[in-house]
Amino acid sequence: MQARAPLMIEHRLIERMIEIIKRMLHKVEIEKSVDPLLVDKTIDFIRIYADKTHHGKEENILFRALEKKDLSEKDQVLMEELISEHILGRETTKKLVEANDRYRNGNKSALSEIISNLGFLIDFYPTHIEKEDKVFFPSARKYFSEEEDQAMLEEFWEFDRQMIHEKYRSVIETFEA
Ligand SMILES: [Fe+2]
Ligand SMILES: [Fe+2]
Repeated sequence: MQARAPLMIEHRLIERMIEIIKRMLHKVEIEKSVDPLLVDKTIDFIRIYADKTHHGKEENILFRALEKKDLSEKDQVLMEELISEHILGRETTKKLVEANDRYRNGNKSALSEIISNLGFLIDFYPTHIEKEDKVFFPSARKYFSEEEDQAMLEEFWEFDRQMIHEKYRSVIETFEA
């Protein structure tokens, strides 16, 4: 298995979540209301799976390994673009969390912000994913030997192994706070 395989498999699950968000958004627009708990679950998926677990591996392992390579101008530009998209995704999720909290506390006008941030996510992810699957990952693969690629795959597995512990440590810390 190549190192990029788990990343691409993760993309498929993120795409399924995007479809769920699309259906949710459609319903929210018709009903002019949202269940904040559903938004919480969406946020949990985006934060823990799409961002920490998935973008985490891309940034901390793949991109970091590529920084040691002599990237072509085109690949360098694309990698920087992907990094700034991750940041934008994080900022959007943060805005979504804040809007959802305001909505839960009775501020019904926060609904439009929930809608626009969810809308941003369903536009953002498919394009970002396609760029990685079709352009960046195949290009990036050329900088690594077979051995380096396999070592990266091992690092990915190790990263994933830590994740469940990190997730539930943060749950406990939230309760304790
Ligand atoms: Fe990414
Ligand atoms: Fe990705």
